[in-house]
Amino acid sequence: MKYLKIILVISLLAVVTVFFSQCLQNNSSGDPRGDEYAGSKVCADCHRNISDSYAHSNHFRTSAQAGNDYLRKLITPSNNQFYFTDSSYIRIEEKETAFFQSYFIDGKKNASEQFDITFGSAEKAQTYAWWKGNQLFQLPLTWLANSNTWTNSPGFSARHAHYGRTITSRCFECHASYVSRELVQSGAMSVTENLDRSSIVYGIDCERCHGPAASHAKFQQENPTVKTSRYITPIGSLTRQQQLDICATCHSGNDQSTQRSLFSFVPGDTLSHFLFPEFASDNHEPDVHGKQLQLLKSSLCFQRSDMTCTSCHNTHEPEKDKVTAFISKCMDCHQNSTHAVNSLKESEQKKRDFNLVSLSCIDCHMPLQTSKTIYFNSGAESKNIPYFIRTHKIAIYK
Ligand code: HEC
Ligand code: HEC
Ligand code: HEC
Ligand code: HEC
Ligand code: HEC
Ligand code: HEC
Ligand code: HEC
Repeated sequence: MKYLKIILVISLLAVVTVFFSQCLQNNSSGDPRGDEYAGSKVCADCHRNISDSYAHSNHFRTSAQAGNDYLRKLITPSNNQFYFTDSSYIRIEEKETAFFQSYFIDGKKNASEQFDITFGSAEKAQTYAWWKGNQLFQLPLTWLANSNTWTNSPGFSARHAHYGRTITSRCFECHASYVSRELVQSGAMSVTENLDRSSIVYGIDCERCHGPAASHAKFQQENPTVKTSRYITPIGSLTRQQQLDICATCHSGNDQSTQRSLFSFVPGDTLSHFLFPEFASDNHEPDVHGKQLQLLKSSLCFQRSDMTCTSCHNTHEPEKDKVTAFISKCMDCHQNSTHAVNSLKESEQKKRDFNLVSLSCIDCHMPLQTSKTIYFNSGAESKNIPYFIRTHKIAIYK
């Protein structure tokens, strides 16, 4: 009885808190993460160049509400069906207001769910989720960019369509800036996760990496003559490990469980405080998918220098087709290697004389490798489709 009362009081308090926090949200920034956040539109007022280029980056576009105009570009009449067997297939259909993945068996429609959310920028791949109440599920077909095809979502059966794989807040922790969730008891031993769709901040926004910045924006607005920053952590002032941890929140894999939501990670935090310790010692080579930090750490370049991810990457810009820029980063440190200097000269020569793109440092020392954890199947054609990712183990491969 006493417990019942406590539970009642707690739930009442929760309702009141939610009510008031919602009032607060409506009164100020309106950002679902709370008043400390300004939202990336505000940053553009003063950081115009960064904001403009960042808008085209894959980070910013890595999740979104599915838009019909966008989807229309991927779906053509000759490329809208996926066969499991001769008589069972999925067809992508446009109905009045949205696109659907519909499953037909022997000519009869068996299931049909809507494209609600996109995950992935589609640089390589894009997968989709549909809402059922407050829960999200993955759609059976995923878009593969380099072959321009629809294929079975990774890990799904090649024999029949599957609509039941849940998309949890974990996907959002790496592919978005926020979602509010609630765990509810759904059976004696089971808990389900409800997501609040009105709270989603799509894409990875400025404050996802830089931390809440409403006070910073307000201060700089009120003091336009001050040209130095306040109330924001300068990333250059952090230790190497702290800088690496910013990227590692999403680039060190998905196999450790989290103690605290990674949405609350801010620059200067220590990532390991957010994760449960790893007990099983992992002797396997880290997978190229998502494990950039571990692979980089195993390279001599990393061990014998103070490099971080930003020694080579500028996350404010789309980095497609920037091979020349990457090579110049290698040369920043390897100008004393005769081999490196010669191989650079040779490739520039070939380009000039024969308009040939020859092998670069990256092709030889950071080759594309197939992921062991992500691969696709082509259904009725029963082929496995490998997923290629650049390894960050910079080394000599023969
Ligand atoms: C009213 C103008 C203004 C607004 C709005 C503003 N900033 Fe700034 N910000 C500045 C100024 C001025 C500096 C210092 C000069 C510089 O580094 O550009 C600065 C610096 C920074 C720095 C570098 C800190 C350092 O010292 O290394 C970051 C990161 C930053 N801002 C992020 C943001 C984010 C994120 C937002 C949006 C939530 C934002 N700013 C909104 C004016 C503004
Ligand atoms: C993926 C993480 C990430 C995102 C997203 C991000 N930044 Fe940065 N930002 C960084 C890192 C890392 C640095 C430090 C760069 C360095 O040390 O070379 C930085 C540096 C800065 C600086 C300091 C000056 C400069 O040009 O390097 C400003 C200002 C800034 N960011 C603003 C923004 C704004 C505005 C946005 C959103 C439009 C944004 N950032 C989005 C990671 C990010
Ligand atoms: C909140 C999670 C998150 C953080 C923090 C993050 N990334 Fe990413 N990163 C991603 C995701 C997700 C993708 C895949 C984007 C897509 O859909 O194509 C990605 C893609 C990339 C790519 C691929 C190139 C591109 O533009 O697609 C690079 C390079 C990269 N991240 C570097 C960094 C670096 C460096 C940092 C730290 C400064 C960082 N990331 C921080 C989640 C994150
Ligand atoms: C721990 C962080 C993390 C989690 C959790 C995560 N991803 Fe990713 N995802 C990444 C990173 C990083 C990349 C890009 C680089 C890579 O593959 O290593 C990526 C790439 C992708 C891509 C391909 C994007 C492209 O075009 O390159 C898709 C699609 C995707 N993820 C969907 C999902 C879905 C759906 C979930 C949840 C079931 C999920 N991811 C969970 C970090 C994560
Ligand atoms: C921040 C400096 C730095 C950058 C940037 C850098 N390296 Fe290195 N790299 C080193 C150091 C230090 C070593 C150790 C050997 C030495 O002193 O030459 C090394 C070693 C290597 C080795 C030998 C590895 C082995 O296992 O024997 C290769 C190959 C290499 N780097 C290629 C590259 C390539 C390719 C790039 C660009 C993608 C690159 N490096 C960028 C600092 C760097
Ligand atoms: C020595 C330079 C260097 C460093 C340091 C570095 N990268 Fe990269 N990274 C590259 C190059 C080169 C590519 C390939 C670019 C391309 O193919 O266009 C790449 C590609 C990527 C990709 C896309 C991989 C793919 O195939 O989709 C991600 C994600 C990424 N880097 C994340 C990181 C993260 C996170 C860190 C820090 C842990 C990091 N990188 C450190 C050079 C570097
Ligand atoms: C065709 C493949 C290939 C290309 C292109 C290439 N390398 Fe290498 N690299 C090798 C091999 C193989 C070795 C092992 C040593 C040897 O046999 O010469 C090596 C060795 C190295 C080493 C360690 C030994 C030394 O000379 O310092 C570094 C550092 C290095 N490469 C950097 C680079 C850089 C930087 C570039 C681009 C400018 C580059 N490499 C282009 C294949 C290549």
